[in-house]
Amino acid sequence: MEDVRANMLNQLRDRNVVESIPSSSDESSPLSSAAPDRPSYNSAAYWDERYKSGKDTDDNFEWIVTYKDLKLVVDEFLEGAAKVLHPGCGGSTLGLEVRRTFGSRLKIVNVDVSDSCIARMRELYPEGRWEVVDSCSPPEGEHRGGYDRVLDKCLLDAFCCGGTEREKRDLVGSYLDHCWGCLGVGGRMMVISFGQPETRERYFEGKTYGKREGGWSWERVGGTRTMEVKGEGGKNAMCYVYELRKLEEGKE
Ligand SMILES: C[S@@+](CC[C@H](N)C(=O)[O-])C[C@H]1O[C@@H](n2cnc3c(N)ncnc32)[C@H](O)[C@@H]1O
Repeated sequence: MEDVRANMLNQLRDRNVVESIPSSSDESSPLSSAAPDRPSYNSAAYWDERYKSGKDTDDNFEWIVTYKDLKLVVDEFLEGAAKVLHPGCGGSTLGLEVRRTFGSRLKIVNVDVSDSCIARMRELYPEGRWEVVDSCSPPEGEHRGGYDRVLDKCLLDAFCCGGTEREKRDLVGSYLDHCWGCLGVGGRMMVISFGQPETRERYFEGKTYGKREGGWSWERVGGTRTMEVKGEGGKNAMCYVYELRKLEEGKE
């Protein structure tokens, strides 16, 4: 059960994303609050610096799992969708591969908070749509209500990798607000994660985040799905898939 988490933490450590990660849980811990200078995982400056330094720029760089590992669940999730948001895309080609599978009937918009990451992906893959967006701010323009699916791979996880429990809740809350605002009613969000249910499900409860903007809410779709995947170095590891549905429009 710890394999994928350990795997991601190793990836984070190898790439200096995490200077201080609690060793037994990624939740509130004395260690997490004991690192006041830890990076801010939603900060454009932090990620931009990483991408500029060339750490996360290997071709087809994927965090933890690939489309091949996920194809069955992802394809099923996207079936019938017209427009998909892929937040925190980084150097992942998940969006491109999905587009190859579904063809022109599916539009996929890959976004990231880092300018340099997006500039590089535009250059490498001009056939894709790449945009600089902060997924923790309220959605703007055509992003507002413009999607029927949100596909997250390891972005929510990044927000859970540092800080106090309160900070993580605020960050994840802003992120879920953003995704909620990007979806039309009935739209769905999939979170592909290394986080075990006891460290993630609390974030998906309507009661926790359901009243932030006056009446909006999510519901869980199905239970948590657990998949065994090949992690880094070909080792077997566990991956968790969470799904949410947008229930109603918020009040302005
Ligand atoms: C752990 S990496 C995951 C990358 C990719 N999804 C993958 O699975 O390979 C997290 C990515 O989220 C981006 N990110 C961090 N904060 C963000 C935010 N507030 N809005 C949009 N993207 C963000 C980072 O720049 C980074 O590329």
